[in-house]
Amino acid sequence: MKQIAIDGPAGAGKSTIAKILAERLDYMYVDTGAMYRTIGLACLNAGIDLEDEEAVGKVCEEANIFIRYENGVQIMYLDGEDVSKEIRTEEVSKAASDTSKFPKVRERLVQMQRDLAEEYNVIMDGRDIGTCVLPNATLKIYLTASVEVRAQRRFKEYTEKGIECTLEEIRKDIEQRDYNDMHREISPLCKAEDAIEVDTSDLNIEEVVAAVIALWK
Ligand code: DC
Repeated sequence: MKQIAIDGPAGAGKSTIAKILAERLDYMYVDTGAMYRTIGLACLNAGIDLEDEEAVGKVCEEANIFIRYENGVQIMYLDGEDVSKEIRTEEVSKAASDTSKFPKVRERLVQMQRDLAEEYNVIMDGRDIGTCVLPNATLKIYLTASVEVRAQRRFKEYTEKGIECTLEEIRKDIEQRDYNDMHREISPLCKAEDAIEVDTSDLNIEEVVAAVIALWK
């Protein structure tokens, strides 16, 4: 099976690029952030303290998570309910960032991700795909962009979806998440030694896709 790993901080354009590439190459796009978000949502629903490692571990163990792919779109189910929209809020993104630092959460989700990669050609995006989940991936990309550019992209995306927010809030959230994701003990976000860095600050979507496809070839 072939594997393309795309890692990088929040808002660098990973999911946008990965979706387009998956369609062009006819690979399965695996959005690992959505899995961490689903655990984050399960913990919020359970009303537990997100810093309580034992409680988070228990919710993660018991959460009934199911992933389905429909026309190339990944749909997340939590306890039988489609939560794909519900996991896209700032509250859930923060909960995902908080709870993803615990080993129990990572072990369960990394196993699910490796199982998918064994069965299908995948383009997988996340924070630790090249460094931990798929260390032998065929191609590893580390996608970055400046904080300012990433905040503006998120802000545009949210306002287009009618989600109320301010640019300042989004920028702070991105900075906080960068810090959390890069400083946690297990599998922190970092560039794999053999990953190729692509800075998307001054590139449009098509330029980034073209750059990655050229690397792939
Ligand atoms: O990519 P995203 O914004 O949907 O990810 C949400 C959070 O999940 C992110 O802040 C950190 C965590 N995450 C992770 O720890 N490892 C991954 N492979 C993907 C996401």
